[in-house]
Amino acid sequence: MIWKKPALFRRSISSAALLVLAACSNVAQAATYTMFRDPGCGCCTNWAGHVEDGMNTKVESVDSNDMAAMKTARGVPQELWSCHTMEVDGYIIEGHVPAEAVAKLLRERPAGVAGLAVPGMPLGSPGMEAGDRVQPFEVIAFGSAGRSVFASFP
Ligand code: CU
Ligand code: CU
Repeated sequence: MIWKKPALFRRSISSAALLVLAACSNVAQAATYTMFRDPGCGCCTNWAGHVEDGMNTKVESVDSNDMAAMKTARGVPQELWSCHTMEVDGYIIEGHVPAEAVAKLLRERPAGVAGLAVPGMPLGSPGMEAGDRVQPFEVIAFGSAGRSVFASFP
């Protein structure tokens, strides 16, 4: 009798965990990717292509002539600004964030994270390829939990 309760408890936990995993992968597949960009900038389109290839999805591109206002309205800290700003599944993706980092965010959904950013325009980041010139860069997570390094590249 003593062991019945824990066994039931364990079973309900593991099926709940499976449901969560299934829900997360469905969300990552079905999410809408909307990128806002300045129409005069070309690297944004290259980056969108990288995300489409890496995540097997479509990225909708919306031109904006006031990207500063777009970023401010979405809570992107100014020190983290880059060129384009993408919305996906309630998250904000700022700049040339590699698709694998976006996928990790959608998979893991860490608490207190509103989005990811690669500040500036590091050479060699996705969409910023320049021959073999590569500047190491970090993907910064931001949100109510503060800022932290989410991933480092290369
Ligand atoms: Cu750019
Ligand atoms: Cu750009």
